[in-house]
Amino acid sequence: MAAKAWGGRFQQQTDARVEAFTESISFDSRLAAVDIRGSQAHARMLAKVGLITDDECRQIVETLTEIGGEIEQGNFEFRFELEDIHMHIESALIERIGDIGRKLHTGRSRNDQVSTDLKLYTRGAIERVDSLLKDLQVAFVERCDRDADQVLPGFTHLQRAQPVKAAHYWLAYCEKFDRDRQRLADCLTRVNVSPLGGAALAGSSLPIDRHYTAELLEFTDVARNSLDISSDRDYLAEFCFCMALIATHLSNWAEEWIAWFSTEFGFIKLPDAFTTGSSIMPQKRNPDVLELIRGKSARPIADVQQTLVLLKGLPMAYNRDMQEDKLAMFDAYDTVAACLELAAAMVEGAELQVETINAKLEDGFLDATALMEYLIKKGTPMRTGHGIVGKLVSLCESRSIRLADLTLEELQQACPEIEEDIYQVLGARNAMAALCSFGSGGEQPVQEQTAYWKEKLGL
Ligand code: ARG
Repeated sequence: MAAKAWGGRFQQQTDARVEAFTESISFDSRLAAVDIRGSQAHARMLAKVGLITDDECRQIVETLTEIGGEIEQGNFEFRFELEDIHMHIESALIERIGDIGRKLHTGRSRNDQVSTDLKLYTRGAIERVDSLLKDLQVAFVERCDRDADQVLPGFTHLQRAQPVKAAHYWLAYCEKFDRDRQRLADCLTRVNVSPLGGAALAGSSLPIDRHYTAELLEFTDVARNSLDISSDRDYLAEFCFCMALIATHLSNWAEEWIAWFSTEFGFIKLPDAFTTGSSIMPQKRNPDVLELIRGKSARPIADVQQTLVLLKGLPMAYNRDMQEDKLAMFDAYDTVAACLELAAAMVEGAELQVETINAKLEDGFLDATALMEYLIKKGTPMRTGHGIVGKLVSLCESRSIRLADLTLEELQQACPEIEEDIYQVLGARNAMAALCSFGSGGEQPVQEQTAYWKEKLGL
């Protein structure tokens, strides 16, 4: 049984059940690399201010590197009685270099150490998710040229609404994932504030230099209040929220493509490599990956809640409850990263079923709003135009025809201002082409959007 680093005032060994219950090594071992980086910076600072010698610092730094290598290669034994990754590394250090290793924890506590590790880890996670988001944006933007001539029915309430360029759809997702990237960048500004040296809750009477460790660890600022440091997990709640919103956007997209992949829609073909079959029905091709992207979005959403519920009852400052924070963060991160990777591959590999889409493009009166706007241009008040077109739609429905099938006389009967040029407005493609306002789904505005994204993403 290993002696506890904090064992001095205890007269009994810790109950084995308590050790198994309170351990976090089973999930925080993934902080090993950042823990070592943080400890090496801390040791360098201790040497700089004279709390350890340069030679002691060198031994600590080198031995930590060695321990880090062993952990990475899986040559390091984890034991519940050493609780967490921080104690494992410190005790290995002491085992190897004795009293010098006993000096490492000078002027810090696990409370600021855990937060430092988590911030370094979250910083890496933000970088990776940002780059995966960018890959997904690129996949959408690259579809714009591929589907350059395609028009899609736009839906509201999943009912046919107005026609738009296919690229308008792709770029709509690009916008959402861009806001996700902006949110991550903003989250990073708070992640990037160094907690190291806040110690347990009150700081230290030793001459530690927190600004120096912050600089070594490439933090952009130093947290000002040690009590706040010890209790702050805002950045994890924010990070989980960022993951939850990305997951929500992915789920929206997946839901849409699941519908589009159905025989009823038939809008999209997915590569075999990204669909799965049925164990009983030989004909099946199921969009399981999309369904799981939609399904897995539940996890980051729950992780935000787990983090907030975990934190909401805690008094200042560190409380052991906080050990559980990592579970939510890791889960949110892993889930979103895995989903993003597959999403980009699917966006790249899918094909629009152009024939099916085009065959039904004139269904559902996608041009009704364009006709109403034509009337407005001819001087008809909007509400009056709305009523006129509504009646024409109803007339068409009763005869199972389209607006473009009405004769000029029939149209003029409904509204005398209508002229021959109306036939350049009716029909889905014409209605799409008439869209010209900034940000709309028409030819020119979509070209502008595409150019904007190509430039922004360096394509
Ligand atoms: N395993 C703990 C965690 O992850 C380490 C911090 C322990 N601090 C303490 N005061 N017991 O949060």
